[in-house]
Amino acid sequence: MSHQTVIVLDFGGQYNQLIARRVRECGVYCEVRPYTAPLAALRAMNPIGIIFTGGPNSVYLEDAPKVDPGIFTWGVPILGICYGCQLMAHLLGGRVAAAQDDSAREYGKTETQFDTGCKLFQGLPGAGITWMSHGDYMERAPQGFAATARSAACPNAAIADEARGFYGVQFHPEVNHTQGGTDMLRNFLYEVCHAAGDWTMEDYRRAAVAALREKIGGGKVLLALSGGVDSSVAAALLAEAVGEQLTCVFVDHGLMRKDEGDEVEAAFSRRAMNFIRVNAQDRFLIRLAGVDEPERKRKIIGEEFIRVFEEEARRIGAVDYLAQGTIYPDVIESGAGDAAVIKSHHNVGGLPDCVDFKEIVEPLRLLFKDEVRDLGRELGLPEYLVARQPFPGPGLAIRVIGDVTKEKLDMLREADAIFREEAARAGEDRRLSQYFAALTNMRSVGVMGDGRTYDYAVALRAVTTDDFMTADWARVPYELLDRVSVRIVNEVAGINRVLYDITSKPPGTVEFE
Ligand code: XMP
Repeated sequence: MSHQTVIVLDFGGQYNQLIARRVRECGVYCEVRPYTAPLAALRAMNPIGIIFTGGPNSVYLEDAPKVDPGIFTWGVPILGICYGCQLMAHLLGGRVAAAQDDSAREYGKTETQFDTGCKLFQGLPGAGITWMSHGDYMERAPQGFAATARSAACPNAAIADEARGFYGVQFHPEVNHTQGGTDMLRNFLYEVCHAAGDWTMEDYRRAAVAALREKIGGGKVLLALSGGVDSSVAAALLAEAVGEQLTCVFVDHGLMRKDEGDEVEAAFSRRAMNFIRVNAQDRFLIRLAGVDEPERKRKIIGEEFIRVFEEEARRIGAVDYLAQGTIYPDVIESGAGDAAVIKSHHNVGGLPDCVDFKEIVEPLRLLFKDEVRDLGRELGLPEYLVARQPFPGPGLAIRVIGDVTKEKLDMLREADAIFREEAARAGEDRRLSQYFAALTNMRSVGVMGDGRTYDYAVALRAVTTDDFMTADWARVPYELLDRVSVRIVNEVAGINRVLYDITSKPPGTVEFE
């Protein structure tokens, strides 16, 4: 099924993935292409509009990213953002100048006035805050353009040639700090490009299935299924596309949360595909015995995972395609669109080199995390799989502080399950970015009934964060902590004390190890 496409032409700005995300949020399909893409290839995509992104350069630099001015003769509407706006102005005969003094540079939240007669600002208030981040500024708009927004330092904060459908904004409408930013993008898409709003998850699913069938043909596909959101959704999508040509290998390393291995099996073993669960718990435990250094644990688990996966792959025989649940932020972070780079992205430390396959298939590589979750729902995956909070590849091994044993893992699984169950019951789970229990390496004295206990202390951790680079400890209600504490010490033998971690990141990290 075909749908309208908007091209986001990437000039290297830091918010480019956000632009693509916003466009899709508006119900319009878009694809990001590098500014070096041949013009003919862009044209062949038959876009209804093009967005030039921001970028770190100055248009006057010798090696500044440029675009063939032929793009302006297609009759396709263009929105330039920040550098993209300056480039458009520069190429169409305007004048961009480097700010001579600080007063002409703008960074951060900036009071801006808009001409609401301009299609871009239609229906918006006449003034608002925009997010600026520029050293250069547009001194003179090109012929045919009018200034349609201004700030104290920027008389041309937005420019428009409405007859040709060319718009430029000096600020970043895609970031949340710009008030009404998404409305501006929506105006560009619907009022200027006349988008039909034909991009839904159902369309995406249909198109993705058709594209996978065409690519894979009668070939064999192998996927390492971890039970995390991305690989689960990739598995479901591939299963719909090629059914039994797909084999999913789920390596159960015994470091999953309570019932998680069975949940993954229940969700996938019924689908029309080959599902293999490798119960490798003992192997991992043997290799982890006596190891208490966190990075060493990670390395052992990564290596062992690859070994198990390779053994299974060899058993299955020659595969044509290795599938991965790579999502768009992974692609961006890898800094390249090259499939081979993706290997290092795998949760548990890279994929095997000696599995013989022709090509990598990444059916989610254009999607963002929340879009992946929506696609998972669309494919009928259970909510507990698609709404899953992040879970580290090394699993509970890095939540048992110190050396890992089966007894400790079992204790932790019970305590963690109680915390998750009570958090969900209290309606706190959706507010929290990540929350879990960790088994400390500390034992302490307690009293239970008439007797003395000398048992482990479990630590509860709950954080809120947007990006996991920084995180705040979550102010969960005392009543919830109380219920969890009472249940854990009563229900989990071997634990007699419950602590709550009130350290943010930095200086702490989300995980204890
Ligand atoms: P930290 O502890 O670094 O965690 O603040 C940030 C996020 O990364 C997850 N995390 C990991 N994920 N393998 C993973 O796949 C790991 O070794 C690992 N260590 C931490 C953590 O759960 C949090 O979401």
